[in-house]
Amino acid sequence: MAAVVLVGAQWGDEGKGKITDYLAEKADVVVRYQGGSNAGHTVMVGREEFKLHLVPSGILYPGKLCIIGNGVVLDPAVLVEELDGLASRGVDTSGLKISNRAHLILPYHKGLDAVQEEHRGEAMIGTTKRGIGPAYVDKAARTGIRVGDLLDWEEFRAKVTHNLTATNELLAKIYDRPGYDLQAVLEEYAGYARRLRPLIADSVRLVNRALQEGRKVLFEGAQGTLLDLDQGTYPFVTSSYPVAGGACIGAGVGPTRIDKVIGVVKAYTTRVGSGPFPTEITGPAGDALRQQGMEFGTTTGRPRRCGWLDTVILRHAAEVNGLTGIALTKLDVLTGLEPLRICIGYLYRGTVGEDFPASLKALEECEPVYEELPGWHEDITGARSLEDLPANCRRYIQRLEELTGVPVHLIAVGPRRDQTIVLESPF
Ligand code: GDP
Ligand code: IMO
Ligand code: MG
Repeated sequence: MAAVVLVGAQWGDEGKGKITDYLAEKADVVVRYQGGSNAGHTVMVGREEFKLHLVPSGILYPGKLCIIGNGVVLDPAVLVEELDGLASRGVDTSGLKISNRAHLILPYHKGLDAVQEEHRGEAMIGTTKRGIGPAYVDKAARTGIRVGDLLDWEEFRAKVTHNLTATNELLAKIYDRPGYDLQAVLEEYAGYARRLRPLIADSVRLVNRALQEGRKVLFEGAQGTLLDLDQGTYPFVTSSYPVAGGACIGAGVGPTRIDKVIGVVKAYTTRVGSGPFPTEITGPAGDALRQQGMEFGTTTGRPRRCGWLDTVILRHAAEVNGLTGIALTKLDVLTGLEPLRICIGYLYRGTVGEDFPASLKALEECEPVYEELPGWHEDITGARSLEDLPANCRRYIQRLEELTGVPVHLIAVGPRRDQTIVLESPF
C-alpha cells in the first residue's frame, strides 16, 4: 500500500506523533496537511522526548522526505525555532520541504486570536492563541499571504502593507488595541525569507510524483475529527479539516490515491479548551486519570479534560474518515482502573440514540449510556503481542472493534517506539 492517512479520531492529542513516527520508519514521505503550530506531537526516541508543532513527525528518521503541505498555516517564527531546536539535538532536517501554497501566519494573526478570545467572554473557544483561526479567515477571504510570496519581496511587502494597515485599523477601532509596526514585521519576515527560501517547493508535484513512483506516503493529520470545522463540535473546533478528506485538499492529491485511513484512538477521551464533552469525568476521578495519563497540553501546557472512551464519537469518526483501521494508544494508562466504562450511546429526551448529534444544544443535553467492563491490574507496558495482554484487556479491545466496526491494527502500550503491538501494518 502506498498512501496512508493518519487522523485523530477524538479531540486531538490521541498520540498521532508516536504512531506517525512508528509508521514513518517504513514510509518514504511524510506530509502534514492542515493546522499549524496549534498542534503538539510528542515523539519519544529512546529516552529523548521531541515535541513537534509544524515539522512532520517523520523527521526523526534520517532520509525521509518531510513535507509541510499547502493546507497548513505556517508560522515561520515557530518553524525556525523548531528547526534550530532539532539541529541542536543532532537531528538532520535536510529532508524538509514547505509548500509554496501554504499560508503564512503573521504576528497580527496571533494578536487577533488573543483579543477575539477575550471578547468572546463566557463563549470563549479556548484556542491555542497561535493565530490559526485568523490566518484561515484571511485564506478564505482571499487576502491571505502565501509562503511562495516570500520569494517575491515586492509582492510580499505590498500584501503585508495592505493587510497590516487594515488589521491595525480593526484593532484600534473595534478592540481599542495598539497596532503592529510595519517596518519591524517586514524586517522580521525578511529574515525568514532568507532562511526558508531553500525549503520552499511545489509540494503538490513532490507528493504526486512520489505516489506515481510507487513510494510510500504517510499523511499526518493534526488535531482530531471532533475539532474538524465541519464534522466537529462547531463552533468549539479548529479552523481546518483534520478529517481524512483534508489530506486530499491539504496535500493536493486526489481521493482515488488514498489506500488506507488509520484513526488514532486514545483508550479514553481527552479534550483541551471549551465545548461539550459527554463522557467527561470531573472531580478527583478525572484528576487521577489526568495524572496517570500525564494529560497536560504539549503546546499550551493546559490540563486536558479527561473522560471515558466514547464509541458514539468513534462511530462518527469511522464514518466521516472512512477508517480502515484503528491505532489504539495509551492502553497502559487504564491499568488498575476498575471497572472500565465505555459509552455506547446517548440518552436524549428519554430515548437512547447511537448517532452523534450536529446540534451543540442537543449534545449538551445528552447523557452518556455506559457499558461496564472488568479492568486489569497487570503491567502491560512490556507487552509486544496480543497474547501478552491480560484477557480483560483483550476484551476491551474487542469491544472497541465491535462497537465501531473498525479493526484495531496497532496498539500502543507506552510512549516509546518499541512499546507498540502491530497486528496489521498499513505499509
Ligand atoms: P498528538 O497530538 O496526537 O501527537 O498527541 P500528544 O503528543 O499531544 O499527546 C500524547 C501523549 O501521550 C504524548 O506525551 C506521548 O508521548 C504519550 N503517548 C503516546 N502513546 C502512548 C502510550 O501508548 N502510552 C503512554 N503512557 N503514553 C503515550
Ligand atoms: P494536536 O495536533 C488538542 C483545540 C484548542 C481549542 C480549539 C481551537 O496536538 O492533537 P485553535 O488554536 O486551533 O484555533 O483552537 O482546538 N486544539 C487542540 N486540542 N490537540 C491539538 O492538536 C489541538 N489544536 C487545537 O484547544 O479548543
Ligand atoms: Mg498534541
